[in-house]
Amino acid sequence: MKQEIWNFWANKYDKLWVQKFSLKPTRNYILNHIKENYNIDENIEKIKVLDLGCGPGELIEELQNNFKSFDITGVDFSEGMLNVSKTRNPKAKHIHLDVKDLNKLKEKFNIIICTHSLPYYKEPEKTMKELNRLLIDDGKIYMGFASGNNLYDKFILSFVKLTTGPANYPSDDKFKHLINPYFKIEKLKIIKEKSFMPRIAVYTLMKVNI
Ligand SMILES: C[S@@+](CC[C@H](N)C(=O)[O-])C[C@H]1O[C@@H](n2cnc3c(N)ncnc32)[C@H](O)[C@@H]1O
Repeated sequence: MKQEIWNFWANKYDKLWVQKFSLKPTRNYILNHIKENYNIDENIEKIKVLDLGCGPGELIEELQNNFKSFDITGVDFSEGMLNVSKTRNPKAKHIHLDVKDLNKLKEKFNIIICTHSLPYYKEPEKTMKELNRLLIDDGKIYMGFASGNNLYDKFILSFVKLTTGPANYPSDDKFKHLINPYFKIEKLKIIKEKSFMPRIAVYTLMKVNI
């Protein structure tokens, strides 16, 4: 079972060596981008944030430390991960859900974040359709993942799969295809902290009304 792999990692996740060169730089980039784009003092309405595949809730914690008024929901299908996040983030809402059942979510969000989780989804096309429905019209999605864009990245990522189970790390072309017709790309940031690390693509997406 896929969830069991993530349950296994849940208590060790914040000590993984990939935190330094991959997970933390992804979080820092998104956090800074949100700081630049959302002046929360001017927002009378609450900003609703969905963290899809939130894992142990490190990003939720960093968001809450910086944006006290954000109303944050973390979704994950691993109970182990969700339990760690719940302990770390008692104020956030947590939903135990497989993304294949996203149709069960009814509320809409201003910001949707999905970091290092998309490669593990069985039906990413269906996920994009649901995310389009869940995002408000002028909302933003931040989607970051290791991207199999060349032979070296694909080679390295084949080893990563040994620790995560089946995964599909989309190239830029595959990702563009995947988001069509639901989203437009506002920005693409490439993170590559070390030459030996696979490239991480962090996309900022805008909703297309379909
Ligand atoms: C590599 S971790 C990423 C955690 C966190 N977002 C981060 O950036 O550090 C992948 C997470 O996605 C979750 N996940 C994978 N497939 C999922 C699915 N089908 N539905 C819900 N969560 C899923 C896993 O349980 C795990 O917590």
